Amino acid sequence: MKLPRTYYNYISYLGTIIAAIAWLTLIFFVIQINFFHINNVYFDLYTFVVTPAFLVLGHVLIPIGMYRTRKKLKKGIPISDEKLLVLNLRDPKTRNAILIFSTVSIFFVISTIVGSYKAFHYTESVEFCGKLCHKVMQPEFVAYQNSPHAKVKCAECHVGEGADFYVKSKMSGMRQVFKYTLGTYIRPIATPIENLRPARETCEKCHWPQKFYTNALRKEKYYLADSANTEWDITLNMKIGANHQALGLTEGIHWHINPDINIEYKSNVKRNIIYWVKKTNKKTGETTIFKDSEIDMKSIDKSKSEARSMDCMDCHNRPSHEFRSPSRYVNDLMAAKVNISSIPWFKAAAMDALKTSYSTSDSASSEIKNKILNYYKDNYTEFYKKYNQQIISAINEVKAVYARNAFPEMKVDYSVYPRHIGHLESNGCFRCHNDKFKSEKGKLISKDCNLCHTIVAQGKLNDMKYIGINGSLEFTHPVDIGDAWKESNCMDCHSEIYK
Ligand code: HEC
Ligand code: HEC
Ligand code: HEC
Ligand code: HEC
Ligand code: HEC
Ligand code: HEC
Repeated sequence: MKLPRTYYNYISYLGTIIAAIAWLTLIFFVIQINFFHINNVYFDLYTFVVTPAFLVLGHVLIPIGMYRTRKKLKKGIPISDEKLLVLNLRDPKTRNAILIFSTVSIFFVISTIVGSYKAFHYTESVEFCGKLCHKVMQPEFVAYQNSPHAKVKCAECHVGEGADFYVKSKMSGMRQVFKYTLGTYIRPIATPIENLRPARETCEKCHWPQKFYTNALRKEKYYLADSANTEWDITLNMKIGANHQALGLTEGIHWHINPDINIEYKSNVKRNIIYWVKKTNKKTGETTIFKDSEIDMKSIDKSKSEARSMDCMDCHNRPSHEFRSPSRYVNDLMAAKVNISSIPWFKAAAMDALKTSYSTSDSASSEIKNKILNYYKDNYTEFYKKYNQQIISAINEVKAVYARNAFPEMKVDYSVYPRHIGHLESNGCFRCHNDKFKSEKGKLISKDCNLCHTIVAQGKLNDMKYIGINGSLEFTHPVDIGDAWKESNCMDCHSEIYK
């Protein structure tokens, strides 16, 4: 077999070897994928990204070598015959040369593959996502560590499977690194993430609609802002699934993700104000459109008015990094520590300190301390003296839970990233379920207090009212506000009280 004279040079030889190995590897991977049905992102990455890169490299090196030799030949530089590839395997020198050369090449190719595998693995890791851009991702990273998904990698929700999304996410990642370096990113980081992968391709890899969830009891403890920090408990029976599991997704909260149903909605960009809802029964083709006629359309950004199909993330929008409100994390703290809930007026004192927004973590830390101490000095000197040690250690606990839920440098707290499940501090379910959306036939999207849950126990700790698991108590608001809780949305007061 004769090749052009210019081919015989070391660069082209190297190119040939790399290309040959890459071809073999590629064939190997393609066989694996097609015959053994391997469906793995790393395999995809090798087959479609890493190996072709080597293939290209090899094929580029060959002409480069040939071009250089041609230039030499043109200039009249003689090419010594030694550079001709004469493979005389009887010659021990040639044998050694081939051995050394192939060992080095194979080592080189393998170590590059392993290296890129490691690099790939690293860019998918929680450390990379959460720590590399430490300042920017800190709020999400900290909240994530205390979440039910603390063992699920960021990339499993944010990137998902497949080489195409990997590349896409790294491209947008580059842009983010650039903005990070220049410091031009917006604080807080914008949410919702518009091009987040649909839940079908992320959440539903681990959870899926066909898996029926039964009803669940939810026990909440609240502490009122009075001298005794009176404990008020509410137990809700959440109707997540149908009343009987044989009914599947035909009723209950997860009815929205019944594969035969499609709920679409139009909203402002932040998705906290919804003004149009369409329900489609995919089996019968029947559609119903609900409109909220009272909504102030001026508050809605018209530039974004295409409809969005509801999926898991329209309710579970904070599955992993949830920022809780001060009243919630102080309630939790008091529920966990008796020596805090036994300090008179502590709930009120803590709320007084936490209703302000602070500009830095340091000022928050010192101000929370000053404010709580001053609250006692100004109002309850007798308790200030009597409970001094307890108050000081309680302050440290408050500072610690604050630091897990509010990040002044990134301008992040619960009000910036509201959670769409429930309806206390943000409208959540009441974005649609508010008795204001009407269909043409006059049907409402119901706000009935027993639609989504029933209250099976409520009241002051030592004076609770109970009903059997199939019954429901009418809600009693923990402090007397008359019928205000029926007439306005809970959020109208609850996002004001502590803010
Ligand atoms: C269980 C799934 C899940 C995991 C795990 C997860 N996220 Fe998220 N993340 C989401 C969802 C859902 C949103 C909000 C999407 C929306 O509303 O469009 C989001 C939003 C964000 C945002 C935008 C700002 C915000 O808070 O809304 C950032 C930044 C972010 N995530 C970073 C991270 C980092 C860093 C990690 C890992 C330490 C992580 N996420 C882990 C699901 C997840
Ligand atoms: C890699 C697998 C995985 C992915 C992807 C995932 N989850 Fe989870 N999820 C889990 C595990 C594991 C748990 C914890 C189960 C437990 O505690 O029993 C969980 C728990 C939950 C819970 C219950 C939380 C609680 O308070 O107990 C909800 C709700 C949830 N996930 C929603 C989501 C949503 C929404 C997404 C997509 C944005 C998602 N998950 C993506 C694995 C996953
Ligand atoms: C985008 C609008 C929208 C949001 C947000 C929304 N829903 Fe719905 N929901 C609907 C529509 C539309 C119906 C069907 C109304 C009808 O046909 O009567 C419905 C029906 C229901 C039903 C009755 C299902 C049945 O037939 O048994 C429950 C329960 C429910 N929703 C719970 C919730 C909960 C809990 C939340 C918040 C976590 C929520 N919804 C958020 C639009 C919404
Ligand atoms: C209409 C709003 C809505 C949608 C859409 C929705 N969920 Fe839920 N889901 C809820 C509510 C409300 C609860 C009960 C939460 C509670 O008890 O506070 C819940 C509970 C859960 C739980 C915990 C079950 C348990 O027994 O504790 C999981 C897991 C879950 N959802 C996963 C999903 C997944 C996955 C999807 C998408 C396929 C999804 N949800 C879609 C509203 C929704
Ligand atoms: C469309 C569904 C829906 C309707 C209608 C609804 N709720 Fe709820 N409610 C929820 C969900 C979901 C939660 C759970 C929130 C969570 O998981 O933190 C909740 C939580 C609560 C809680 C516990 C408060 C908290 O968040 O800690 C109370 C009390 C409550 N609801 C009372 C009511 C009353 C009173 C009404 C009638 C005016 C009502 N709900 C109507 C869905 C609904
Ligand atoms: C008119 C204003 C107003 C409305 C509307 C309202 N609340 Fe309240 N709520 C209050 C006040 C004031 C408190 C007392 C705060 C305290 O003592 O710490 C309170 C306390 C509570 C508490 C105890 C909270 C805690 O953390 O200590 C719960 C639970 C509660 N409300 C639930 C609801 C629900 C559910 C709704 C809607 C169905 C609602 N509220 C509507 C004003 C309101």
